[in-house]
Amino acid sequence: MTKAAVIGLGTMGPGICATLARAGMTVTAYDVSADQRAKMPELAKQADGVLAALGVAERTKAPITVADSLAAACAGAGLVIETVPEKLDIKQAVFKEIDAAVATTCIIASNTSGIPITKLQDGNLAPGRVVGMHWSNPAHVIPMIEVIAGNQTDKATVTWMVDTIKGLGLLPVVVEKDVPGFVENRVLYAIMRECVDLVEKGVISAEGMDACVSWGIGYKLSVIGPMALLDMAGLDIYQAVGSYLNKDLCNRADVASYVTGRTGQNKLGMKTGGGIYSYTPEQIPQLRASRAKKLVAVRKALES
Ligand SMILES: NC(=O)c1ccc[n+]([C@@H]2O[C@H](COP(=O)([O-])OP(=O)(O)OC[C@H]3O[C@@H](n4cnc5c(N)ncnc54)[C@H](O)[C@@H]3O)[C@@H](O)[C@H]2O)c1
Repeated sequence: MTKAAVIGLGTMGPGICATLARAGMTVTAYDVSADQRAKMPELAKQADGVLAALGVAERTKAPITVADSLAAACAGAGLVIETVPEKLDIKQAVFKEIDAAVATTCIIASNTSGIPITKLQDGNLAPGRVVGMHWSNPAHVIPMIEVIAGNQTDKATVTWMVDTIKGLGLLPVVVEKDVPGFVENRVLYAIMRECVDLVEKGVISAEGMDACVSWGIGYKLSVIGPMALLDMAGLDIYQAVGSYLNKDLCNRADVASYVTGRTGQNKLGMKTGGGIYSYTPEQIPQLRASRAKKLVAVRKALES
């Protein structure tokens, strides 16, 4: 039974802790923010409730310990998962602290959304044990986890991580090359760029876009992956459509003013009460709960 430490308890950390703990790992958690440390037990409890609704078996679950220093959280860990903000300098500083706090046999995993693992393992005492473990949000609901090796990652580390994820009852997907954004986010950001561009140009409303994508390709892709979909539609059709449509798709390298205009006014989305849509404080927990319920139902249907 591995002792795991989770560093960073923001959006992703509590769901990761709950998933590991329910699967029988001893979990210690740490965040530099006392506020986040205080919120952690309730957030982990909520995530555990969703795991129970998903029917995830509860093995010998030990309580999650919230430590008051990174070194205390990491002491004796066989696995440390870093899930601090997506900024290279913060991650590199946290990696140094973790390196100093654990044995060289401890696996150090990063939940980075796309910073190449090679950049995070540089300078590590044992770079071969550093690996990408990219969970999807919400971490306790989405079963797929990308596993990414940096240039110096040992093959044995990748194998260990794949086996560990399988042991959690989840689905590891190995990304063969350490490219920025890995695979899931490259695909997601290609979709997002086109969606934002079409809404910005007035081709469709934001509401229309959400309905079109969720009930069209979104619904379909959750059952038939893109490569299988190509075969289903016919490669000749893809070639015919792609030959005129690909050159018309958005390929801008910067971020559209539709987004930067809002971030400049602190309209960041649900966390500030509004972004593209507006949210009252009462709506936010209701929305989270109803989305979690639907995701649970869809996952159960897909697994059946
Ligand atoms: N939010 C998502 O949808 C999502 C999905 C997959 C992966 N990720 C990745 O997971 C990581 C975390 O993302 P998030 O959305 O949870 O971020 P977040 O900002 O919600 O949480 C990060 C937490 O790290 C803490 N932190 C900052 N510096 C720290 C330090 N030195 N030591 C300990 N804790 C520290 C912060 O206080 C904060 O609570 C990022 O790399 C992100 O790209 C995010």
